[in-house]
Amino acid sequence: MKQMWTDLDHYIETHLIPEDPILTQTLKHTDDRGYPDHLAVAPNQGMLLQMLIQMNGCKRILELGTFAAYSTMWLARALPEDGYILTIEGRDAHAAVAQENIDQAKLKQTIDLRVGRAADILKSLPADTAPFDFIFIDADKQSYPEYLELSLNLSRSGTLIFLDNVIRAGDIINPDNHKPSIEGIRKMFKLMQEHPRLLSSTALQTVGSKGHDGFALAIVK
Ligand code: DHB
Ligand code: MG
Repeated sequence: MKQMWTDLDHYIETHLIPEDPILTQTLKHTDDRGYPDHLAVAPNQGMLLQMLIQMNGCKRILELGTFAAYSTMWLARALPEDGYILTIEGRDAHAAVAQENIDQAKLKQTIDLRVGRAADILKSLPADTAPFDFIFIDADKQSYPEYLELSLNLSRSGTLIFLDNVIRAGDIINPDNHKPSIEGIRKMFKLMQEHPRLLSSTALQTVGSKGHDGFALAIVK
């Protein structure tokens, strides 16, 4: 099935996803630096992120888990010129490639890349930090419950929270799987189920060039 999913993603991309030289350059530079693209969002998912940002007129975005900044570029392309992205990456090597990609892109939007543990950086933001309009959580899956809580502190009513990779080829319902990443996602579902600050939440399974996975989406009350 995997080949079919990949071929269909290609079909979708060739029909509906316009070529963007900045995005193409980002993928190429990341590949030249020797990093595989399996951690990057698929282009059709990048477009979905853009559409959610555009339909909500978002200006301030928080991203946890930059990797090489390919998803960051998708987010940035959806923002007006005075838009702002705070993106946090835990690994020095990934952040170095991300910064190169950000520098090469020369976008008008401000992309503020910080390196370190996302939870520590979020906790150390000034108390008067303006809320974010859109939050993309894509860092270590083990910490998703903590990231969701911290994100809520940086949200306003209507902020959209998008959490990547919450299905993991079905591992989340395998009772024998107790990996920290899988346990983290299960805790995230529980938290979303009962959180008084969330208006609504859902999750969708996806198949495609990145395999069988999915994402969760929540709106802040
Ligand atoms: C993994 C992480 C991601 O954010 C992703 O999009 C795909 C895979 C991983 O850790 O395997
Ligand atoms: Mg991801």
